[in-house]
Amino acid sequence: MSEERSQVAGSAGDEKLTPELVAFVEEWKPQPGNVIMVLHQVQEHFGYIPRSVAFEVAERLDVPVAKVYGVITFYHFFRMVRPGRHSIAVCMGTACYLKGGQDLINELEMLLGCSNGSVTDDGEFGIEAVRCIGCCGLAPVLTVDGEVFGNLTADDLPGILAQYRGK
Ligand code: FES
Repeated sequence: MSEERSQVAGSAGDEKLTPELVAFVEEWKPQPGNVIMVLHQVQEHFGYIPRSVAFEVAERLDVPVAKVYGVITFYHFFRMVRPGRHSIAVCMGTACYLKGGQDLINELEMLLGCSNGSVTDDGEFGIEAVRCIGCCGLAPVLTVDGEVFGNLTADDLPGILAQYRGK
């Protein structure tokens, strides 16, 4: 079972729709495409889709929970895991892959003790592999909270992490 699916199977948490989100749900309830529109709004607010909120969305839209999870798992854009306080995105586009993108991921996994696609136990860093971010001339590239670091080797990573740790 994937991490996302195991999250789906777990118990609902205690996050709730805000009054603004409830109003958004009510506005969209009669309209086609309401599930995806509401989920976009939820993720923009929370940074992810909390399980408890997915249940609440299903109830308020009067659709099966399975339909809400079907949308969440179909679109890679949606995530059900709370992001780290600092998001590390390692480019795995062709240029970065050929110049060692996978080595960067391996080193980050080793340094942070969490795997690609997950978040450290303290919630500080999340790692994810992404497609080309348009800086191929700097390959291999990663971003931290949107800041670009290029021409990297694994040796550069501890210094980059130190810039963000505890902030
Ligand atoms: S392939 Fe990595 S920035 Fe384009």
